[in-house]
Amino acid sequence: MNAPITAEFETLDTLTPDFERRAESRDLIIGVIGLGYVGLPLAQAFCRQNTRVIGFDVSEFKVEKLNAGKSYIKHISDDSVGGMVETGRFEATTDFDRLAEPDALLIAVPTPLNAHRDPDLDYVIKSTEAIAKRLRRGQIVILESTTYPGTSDEVMKPILEKLSGLVAGRDFGIAYSPEREDPGNPQFETSTIPKVVGADTDAEKRMAVAVYKTIVPQVVPVRDLRTAEAVKLTENIYRAVNIGLVNELKMVYEAMGIDVWEVINAAATKPFGFHAFYPGPGLGGHCIPIDPFYLSWKAREYGLPTRYIELSGEINSKMPEYVINKLAEELSTRLEKAIKGSRILLVGLAYKKNVDDMRESPSLNLLEILEERGAKVDYYDPYIPVVPFDPDHPQYEGRTSTAWDSDSLSKYDAAIVATDHDRVDYAMVLKAVPFVIDTRNATAMLQGEYGDKIIKA
Ligand SMILES: NC(=O)c1ccc[n+]([C@@H]2O[C@H](COP(=O)([O-])OP(=O)(O)OC[C@H]3O[C@@H](n4cnc5c(N)ncnc54)[C@H](O)[C@@H]3O)[C@@H](O)[C@H]2O)c1
Repeated sequence: MNAPITAEFETLDTLTPDFERRAESRDLIIGVIGLGYVGLPLAQAFCRQNTRVIGFDVSEFKVEKLNAGKSYIKHISDDSVGGMVETGRFEATTDFDRLAEPDALLIAVPTPLNAHRDPDLDYVIKSTEAIAKRLRRGQIVILESTTYPGTSDEVMKPILEKLSGLVAGRDFGIAYSPEREDPGNPQFETSTIPKVVGADTDAEKRMAVAVYKTIVPQVVPVRDLRTAEAVKLTENIYRAVNIGLVNELKMVYEAMGIDVWEVINAAATKPFGFHAFYPGPGLGGHCIPIDPFYLSWKAREYGLPTRYIELSGEINSKMPEYVINKLAEELSTRLEKAIKGSRILLVGLAYKKNVDDMRESPSLNLLEILEERGAKVDYYDPYIPVVPFDPDHPQYEGRTSTAWDSDSLSKYDAAIVATDHDRVDYAMVLKAVPFVIDTRNATAMLQGEYGDKIIKA
């Protein structure tokens, strides 16, 4: 007769059915590591589905604020955070010893580029080490941060195994499930977007699917960790390359006297085979300007070039210069002025509409170039009343959004619309300034009345 299996020797294969049952009856505890733009909505999604969540963050400020029922992110309301805290199912903590409590540990920490534009996995490594020191049998660790194929297997797994003495796939699980958050887009939220999940064994995959099945309508399992990591990069590379393409078309069509936005909007009426992407003043945000280079870096290990990524990166990063050159041309022909000494209003600091996030925003590049060339620049952004500290642009910290009234606006020689926030009264600025450089087609509806003052770039 076989000896009974004790809990100590149970493997994921035998533990998984119980894990699945507990997920279904909302009996699991979910840990979310990194309560940022991705982690906070993720925590909310589990909480709404009656699952207990412990949120971990290194920031005392964020943890205190969240526990007090307050949001620190503009497009996430106090009410929704307050509601989450009131259920008693959510708490935030900086106490990483509590990492042993959750059944599933979802990591949503930053994955930036370093000064050499190579992947900076410092945050992932630090949170993996923190987990590894407290890892217990039966837990699953799921990375949500965007990264190159191989991160979970080559970087995280050795740390988790070495520091815990446990074996991945047997004693604990590792999975990868890319976040597809689109902050500020009211059409989608974490709980309505299908989730891709990859893991290297069936048991780990089943555990990860069980976790996400409780919050999304569709979970898409893929073969392994690397495939799931590649899915996320592919989604963002697709965007970066297509934006590069329309930015190039914008310049070509502009020289031909053709409005690229009209072209794209008309082409988008084709019900198949065309997906609309729009040009802009350059790429922004935490993802599209950065993620493609995670793949380029990894591809070098295989001696393979990533030419589409490099080319679109080159085109997209030239956009701020293109916009400023357009401004210089118009200042000269309309007002006989140079950039040096002119007063310019930058409308929108956020990297995209209706959010307060200015990380990697092309507006900061515009601001930098304009000031280097001697312009006096103010900005207006209803989402960013005061510029927070940004490590790439520390010099702008503390600047404040200017007043939005006809008197204040009439002192500018020109305005550049860099972000198309819905809450901005574009007619007011068009009325007040000699001309507007519109990089987002935000003034399209005002073309009839102010067409001669609008320059698209
Ligand atoms: N923002 C987006 O729209 C978006 C969309 C999809 C994917 N992503 C990816 O998701 C990941 C997270 O991005 P984000 O925008 O939420 O970043 P974020 O900066 O808003 O949030 C990250 C959080 O992690 C915390 N943190 C840092 N180090 C930590 C540690 N060692 N332990 C615990 N917490 C720690 C920070 O204090 C911060 O609150 C990135 O890989 C990003 O590429 C972001």
